[in-house]
Amino acid sequence: MRGAHHSPRELRNLPDPLSIRRNVTHKTSEEKLLSQIDLRRLPRHIAIIMDGNGRWAQNRRLPRIAGHRAGMRAVRQGVEACRRLGIPHLTLYAFSVENWKRPQTEVDLLMALLREYLKKEMERMKRHQIRLRVIGRIRELPKAVRQDLQEALQETKHNSNLQLTLALNYGARAELVDAFRKLVRTMKQGGRVEMSERSISERLYTHGLPDPDLLIRTSGEMRLSNFLLWQAAYAELWVTETLWPDFKRRDLYQAVLDYQKRERRYGGLGLA
Ligand code: FPP
Repeated sequence: MRGAHHSPRELRNLPDPLSIRRNVTHKTSEEKLLSQIDLRRLPRHIAIIMDGNGRWAQNRRLPRIAGHRAGMRAVRQGVEACRRLGIPHLTLYAFSVENWKRPQTEVDLLMALLREYLKKEMERMKRHQIRLRVIGRIRELPKAVRQDLQEALQETKHNSNLQLTLALNYGARAELVDAFRKLVRTMKQGGRVEMSERSISERLYTHGLPDPDLLIRTSGEMRLSNFLLWQAAYAELWVTETLWPDFKRRDLYQAVLDYQKRERRYGGLGLA
């Protein structure tokens, strides 16, 4: 029977009966989902458009930033779920090139949250061998953020379990423009450039990352919002009505389970 072997620490911290009942329900549904997942056919790379922080806050008559803070806790759930499954790559859309259009106070608070996240999570990243990566026009981020990022990248660069990529000041079209600029620069310098999918892929921020197999979007919107447009060409899309701050490990397990039920044909007939 599960729960029969409590450590003394767990016994001291026993929650109230109602929350035990709630946890048991969550636990069983989470474990049931986990047991149904085929660990030999996991997506190699999951990308997530984390949407709905503002609506989550609005529903509770809280300021938008409270939604982002709750969203930060959901990031932990997503990372944890990937880590438990053994998924090697997770990419999160944390700040888009369009997000600068938001009120300055919200932008400032998002940057502060990001710094807070890096500080708070560093210990856990080290413990669980999580390597941090970033994609986007990083040089346009505030200096303090760039410094913290640089430190976090440095401190986690040898970690080998899960690669967590944060898309910051990211836009897929901007990424393509930057890639074409690199191609043109090489040509102007007299280099030989073969014009191919490979030569473009190699100049994207995601160079070295496998394309995402599964793209999750929360809060029900059916849009790609300028996220990984090139890389997601064959990604399976999974959209949930759940608002990002409510996203839990079991939501990610459900997405993986649904992904495994789909047949990926890459334009062929799929008659293996
Ligand atoms: C979209 O919700 C979310 C964002 C623009 C920011 C995502 C940020 C976080 C999840 C918190 C911090 C992240 C890290 C990695 C530390 P929205 O504000 O567009 O929601 P709405 O559509 O309901 O208004």
